[in-house]
Amino acid sequence: MDFYTTAIKQPHLLIAGTTGSGKSTAIHGIINTVLNLPRVSLWLVDPKRVELNQYKNSPKVDAYASTAPGAALLLRSACEEMERRYRTLEKAGLQKWENGDIYIIIDELADLLIVPDKKTASEIRVYLSRLAQLGRAARVHLIVATQFVRRSVLPLALVANIPAVVGLRTRDKLESRLLIGCAGCEALPMYGECYFAAPEFLQPQKMKICRASKGD
Ligand SMILES: Nc1ncnc2c1ncn2[C@@H]1O[C@H](COP(=O)(O)OP(=O)(O)OP(=O)(O)O)[C@@H](O)[C@H]1O
Ligand SMILES: [Mg+2]
Repeated sequence: MDFYTTAIKQPHLLIAGTTGSGKSTAIHGIINTVLNLPRVSLWLVDPKRVELNQYKNSPKVDAYASTAPGAALLLRSACEEMERRYRTLEKAGLQKWENGDIYIIIDELADLLIVPDKKTASEIRVYLSRLAQLGRAARVHLIVATQFVRRSVLPLALVANIPAVVGLRTRDKLESRLLIGCAGCEALPMYGECYFAAPEFLQPQKMKICRASKGD
């Protein structure tokens, strides 16, 4: 099973692992895969500011934010677009949007949630939770990377609505269990392999993650 093929067909995806475990590398590979799809729109959130900025001018990248207030605005627009799609579906009596996918890709989610500005952080939580709950039928996907897997950092409504999880190397068994429901991630190599937990699998599948050359 190819990691990237599996990753992009999930309604939403959480990618987690310790520092240096290859979260951003997986995000780059996913971006390069999505860029090759027809009728897609990429909305990128880049709290590290320099990780994803190379894609900013790509014709399929329709939004880019690197600050927490910028991310809040981007996510609010995404919620508005999602609601617009729902209204269109309702009027047409349809159940699922068929006019292209939006991929909202966030590298290092925790950087957005642990900001001093509590109002912005809580807005981000609300928008993310709404997108995770309702994005599926509107074809709005969340792909979120984070170093922190503690439930106190990740909003519950987000975690509960992202059944697909990529577990990279974790610090310990406990983190692995929080992520994929069992131990194993703590024993992965430092990078290049993951456990992929998704509803389509009976148990988390070990997969290799190839590195895409940046900017392809
Ligand atoms: N799948 C992979 N194939 C080859 N090399 C990889 C792979 N994943 C990670 N690496 C190597 O490990 C380094 C760290 O990976 P990366 O920056 O993606 O980790 P990260 O989890 O995003 O770390 P941080 O939490 O510090 O942002 C990369 O620069 C690369 O050299
Ligand atoms: Mg990174």
